[in-house]
Amino acid sequence: MGASPVLPPVIVVGAGQGGLQVAESLRSEGFSGDILLLGAEHHAPYHRPPLSKGLLLGETTAGQVLIRQPAVFDKKGITLRTGTRVAGLDPAARQIVLETGERLEYQALVLATGARPRRLPVPGADARGVHSIRTLDDAQAIGAELAAAENVVVIGGGFIGLEMAAVARKLGKAVTVVEAADRLMARVVAPPVSDHYRALHEGHGVTILFGTAVAGIAVEDGTARGVRCADGTMLPADLVVLGIGVEPETVLAEGAGLVCDRGVVVDGCGRTSHPDIYAIGDCAARRLPDGQCQRLESVQNAVELGKACAAAIVGPDKPFIAAPWFWSDQYDAKLQMVGLSAGHDTVVARQDGATCSWFYFKDGRLIAIDSVNRPADHMAGRKLLAGPNVLTPEMAADGAYPLKDAMTAPVA
Ligand code: NAI
Repeated sequence: MGASPVLPPVIVVGAGQGGLQVAESLRSEGFSGDILLLGAEHHAPYHRPPLSKGLLLGETTAGQVLIRQPAVFDKKGITLRTGTRVAGLDPAARQIVLETGERLEYQALVLATGARPRRLPVPGADARGVHSIRTLDDAQAIGAELAAAENVVVIGGGFIGLEMAAVARKLGKAVTVVEAADRLMARVVAPPVSDHYRALHEGHGVTILFGTAVAGIAVEDGTARGVRCADGTMLPADLVVLGIGVEPETVLAEGAGLVCDRGVVVDGCGRTSHPDIYAIGDCAARRLPDGQCQRLESVQNAVELGKACAAAIVGPDKPFIAAPWFWSDQYDAKLQMVGLSAGHDTVVARQDGATCSWFYFKDGRLIAIDSVNRPADHMAGRKLLAGPNVLTPEMAADGAYPLKDAMTAPVA
């Protein structure tokens, strides 16, 4: 009997949290072929959450954010190529084309290309002293300027902006947050949580401007000196941080003709509209049973869709179905969110001093819980939202009611 032909590798484009997960899960699912993990950045896969927190405070070093030590890649038989940008896909030939022109063949391809920070389309936005926070290099560049900065203006009151504001206040900087909407973190949390965080930040001395558009960055000698608002207000600034959201990195998928809808459209296993191509993480938009596409920006989504994708490549399918969860650390407040609160008709608070959880219901059904410093509520919420439960708003609001008692299916 002749040796079986050697198949080309599974290629994973994007060496972030999700890309690494696919590579490792392929091994744990029993895949014995070659795995090639390509990353455009010059760093091995690293954790992004510390970039807007401990790394800026100097409490975490660049070495500590690496997800795996270099030896692990060899041990698991994963070939990591950093500093390698993919310029195009050739699905008919089952090849990718690198920026250098090199072509690489694959047996299956996974796009884990993530998202890129939205740019601010105003004059001066490319000046020195204006930064986004997406990559380790971004965070290190901000860290280098932060110590000497006096006035920090943060544009965008979402996760990045508020974590940045908390860090800058901790370091004693004057901080102004400019938010276009009328409340904080509106993309993900409901109004009571936005109000809670407004009070938290204002209590720490942050100035927040709502409903405010930025008209330009005032620049002197190529360096940002202020932020000009549309109403004419000039905010002095020697460091400007943009946290105005991200856009999915779908250029490769679109170029290859894959179906995209504000993200590469996939099923619960990361399958795209092309049989050999998968997409996971921030760049993927999952088609839900009601036909809508849902794109999540979270560590959990990268990890779980990564696992499901690896399982689908090896077989059998293990689709990702858990309720989405997220977190954000600002000052001493740990915000944990499970489920999606959009569309709720009822919200009740479960409160004890400074700790609080908000339970969201739609048509009598629990759909999400946002908790501040109440990790037990969050963990209970993950279980409640994973299956049938009998929780009512009255039970949720009653601090003495044990949430685990609601984890039973209603009697038919
Ligand atoms: P975001 O979508 O959470 O927040 C963007 C904010 O900017 C929104 O409040 C929006 O109204 C505002 N905005 C948009 N355009 C604006 C403009 N021109 N002027 C003023 N405000 C404007 O996005 P963010 O904070 O940039 O985060 C980016 C990514 O990083 C997301 O994927 C997020 O999930 C992730 N991230 C997650 C964290 C976590 O889970 N703890 C922490 C930090 C980032």
